Amino acid sequence: MESSLPASPPTAALAAVGGDQPLLSLRAISKNFGAVQALSGVNLDIPTAQVTALIGDNGAGKSTLIKTIAGIWAPSEGDIFWNGEHVTIKTPREADELGIATVYQDLALCDNLDIVANMFLGHELLRHRLLDENVMETSAKETLAGLSVTTVKSARQLVESLSGGQRQSVAVARAVMRDAKLVIMDEPTAALGVSQTAQVLGLIRRLADRGIAVLVISHNLNDVFSIADVLAVMHLGRMVHSGPISDYTPQSAVEIITTGKFSGDSSNLKTNQVEISRETTHDQ
Ligand SMILES: Nc1ncnc2c1ncn2[C@@H]1O[C@H](COP(=O)(O)OP(=O)(O)OP(=O)(O)O)[C@@H](O)[C@H]1O
Ligand SMILES: [Mg+2]
Repeated sequence: MESSLPASPPTAALAAVGGDQPLLSLRAISKNFGAVQALSGVNLDIPTAQVTALIGDNGAGKSTLIKTIAGIWAPSEGDIFWNGEHVTIKTPREADELGIATVYQDLALCDNLDIVANMFLGHELLRHRLLDENVMETSAKETLAGLSVTTVKSARQLVESLSGGQRQSVAVARAVMRDAKLVIMDEPTAALGVSQTAQVLGLIRRLADRGIAVLVISHNLNDVFSIADVLAVMHLGRMVHSGPISDYTPQSAVEIITTGKFSGDSSNLKTNQVEISRETTHDQ
C-alpha cells in the first residue's frame, strides 16, 4: 500500500511500438512470494491491435506477470496504466471491467455444457427471467463466424467433444464477445498438434487485426516469429529486452532467453530499461 509516486506515464518507450499510446503499460512492477522475487522492476508497453509475445525460460516470471495484469496477484510494487490512466487491478472482475480477458491453459471451460453456454457462462442473457437461448446462440455463432472459427460443427456441441484448438477458440470467442480490449493467452498452443496450432495462431492474428491487443506467452519461437509484432523477453524476473519483432532473430531471442543479454550488435535492440526513474532493488 505504501506506494511512492506513480512512475511517469508511458511516453518515450512508445517509439518501440510505433508511436501510439499503449493500451496497457507496466512500470517497475515487482512481485515477491515470500523470499522468492518473481518479478523485479518490470516495464512493458502493450500496444493495441498488435500481438505482443512474452517469452522467457521456465520460471522467468511470465505467468506471474500476466497474473498481475489479470488481477490475480497484486504487485508488491509498481504502477499500471490503462490508456495512459493510472489504475490498480485488484481482482479478476476489475480486469474484466477494464476489458482484460485472460485465457489460461486449463481454460476453465465446463465440459458438460455446450459452446453457447460456455461463451455466456456467468453473463447469461435473460428474457422474462428465462435464459434467452436463441439470442445467445445467434450471438455465439456470429462471434465464432466473425473470428472464422469454422471447424466446430454446431454451437450446441458439448465442449467435452471439442479438440484442444477448438476449445481455445471457444475461450477466445468468449473474450471477444465480452468486448475484451486485451486478450492474454498463456501458452495457447502448448498442447496442440500442427493443424490446431495453425488454427489458434490464425485466430490470434485475427484478434489483433480486429483492433484487439493480444499478449501471448509462448515457448515456441516458430509460433512467436510467425505471429508477433512485438517481442518481450524475460529473464529471472526481469524484462530484459522488448521491441518490434523485426529487431530480433530466433537466434538473438534464444540468446536473450538463456543469458538475459545479447552479445551481438545490440544497437538496434531496444532495451526495456528506458525511463524507469526508480531503479528497483529488493531484498529477498
Ligand atoms: N504462487 C507462488 N508461490 C511461490 N512462488 C511462486 C508462485 N508462483 C510462481 N512462483 C515463483 O515465481 C517464479 C516465476 O514463476 P512463473 O510461473 O511466473 O514463471 P514462468 O515464466 O511462467 O515459467 P514457465 O515457463 O515454466 O511457465 C518462479 O521462481 C516460481 O517458482
Ligand atoms: Mg508459466
